[in-house]
Amino acid sequence: MDQNAIAAFNSNDIMPTSADGTMPFLQQTDLFYLSGIDQEESILLIFPDANEKQHHEILFIKETNEEIAIWEGHKYTREEARELSGIQSVFWVSQFNEIFNTLIFQAEVIYLNSNEHLRAKNEVETRDARFAKWCKEKYPLHKYKRSQPILHKIRAVKSHIEIEQLKKAIHITEKGFRRVLKFINPGIMEYEIEAELIHEFVSNRSKGFSFQPIIASGFNACVLHYIENKGVCKDGELVLMDIGAEYGNYNADLTRCVPVSGRFTDRQKAVYNAVLRVQREAMTMLTPGNTIPEYHKEVGKIMEKELVGLGLLSKTDIKKQDPTLPAYKKYFMHGTSHHLGLDVHDYGYPHMKMEVGMVFTVEPGIYIREENLGIRLENDVVIKENGIVDLMNNIPIEPEEIEDIMNSK
Ligand code: GLY
Ligand code: MN
Ligand code: MN
Repeated sequence: MDQNAIAAFNSNDIMPTSADGTMPFLQQTDLFYLSGIDQEESILLIFPDANEKQHHEILFIKETNEEIAIWEGHKYTREEARELSGIQSVFWVSQFNEIFNTLIFQAEVIYLNSNEHLRAKNEVETRDARFAKWCKEKYPLHKYKRSQPILHKIRAVKSHIEIEQLKKAIHITEKGFRRVLKFINPGIMEYEIEAELIHEFVSNRSKGFSFQPIIASGFNACVLHYIENKGVCKDGELVLMDIGAEYGNYNADLTRCVPVSGRFTDRQKAVYNAVLRVQREAMTMLTPGNTIPEYHKEVGKIMEKELVGLGLLSKTDIKKQDPTLPAYKKYFMHGTSHHLGLDVHDYGYPHMKMEVGMVFTVEPGIYIREENLGIRLENDVVIKENGIVDLMNNIPIEPEEIEDIMNSK
């Protein structure tokens, strides 16, 4: 942060549906990252150069009362919030305006938070956005800066504790996957697989899926964001499962494709093994100093070779290709890797150099619509000095291992 600067972070709103309905509360991930506070109507102030030490970090939480306790249950006491966050100065949120007003004239710069994720749509006004409007109107003569460039740098590199949380989310995801391997059979509905997974996740203290699960059999696997999960899994088809459990607000992100009958056909296995080879080679390229755009270019070349090997592209297709839209994109239309953490598509600018401690997914895929066949394999890895550690290396991926487990029920 600049000298003499104060930064404010707001929790997410509890989002309304209709009538008095609400969506489940999901904390704004920057506030959670910086404070561990997982409750609505919370504000964090960071002011490292404040005159008094007690104002270097201040937390504001919702004042609870008997009425709230009866209807909604327990909310943090100030003591609990102090212990959880490590922040000594904890006030009720109703005191915010008064306290903020006493601090703000010590500061030259105000850092405001906003959602700057490249893929975010930002149609709904967040509490941070409302706060920014209010603050700029009330204190128009301060210098304003964005918090996100700092957060994108620090959140992209995971601490030991964050990796441990991710490992727990991944372990729960693995249990779910192993459970459905024994459950899948011809005639099973995609939503029945989803139901098995949620049972396993919640039974293991996960709040649930880290994102809308994709359970896509046959042609549905070629629809990249298929989330209807209402088809029937038919003999002879594969079922693609892009799933993950959350744990402590950290997210696993796994994709596996398995044969509904318990046995891959030769063609399915050939395409599967091509994707697996691309994944393994891609993993070797996630090294400190590389960047996502460079890496994606190199993975594209490996995929190109595999698609020629499968007879899906010819050498002429490649010679004639438009370099801005390479031929392989016909069968592999998405990126290979994204940062993973408190957000599934986590923070980190594309051109940032890869660093030790960054966590990425590795998820190549081949989608052949004319063959009703879509295969993606996705593991989560952490970058180390000498290559990656695969956080999902216990989760079956070899086709023979998957067949063995499916046939040992
Ligand atoms: N499940 C979302 C993704 O793989 O990016
Ligand atoms: Mn995924
Ligand atoms: Mn992913």
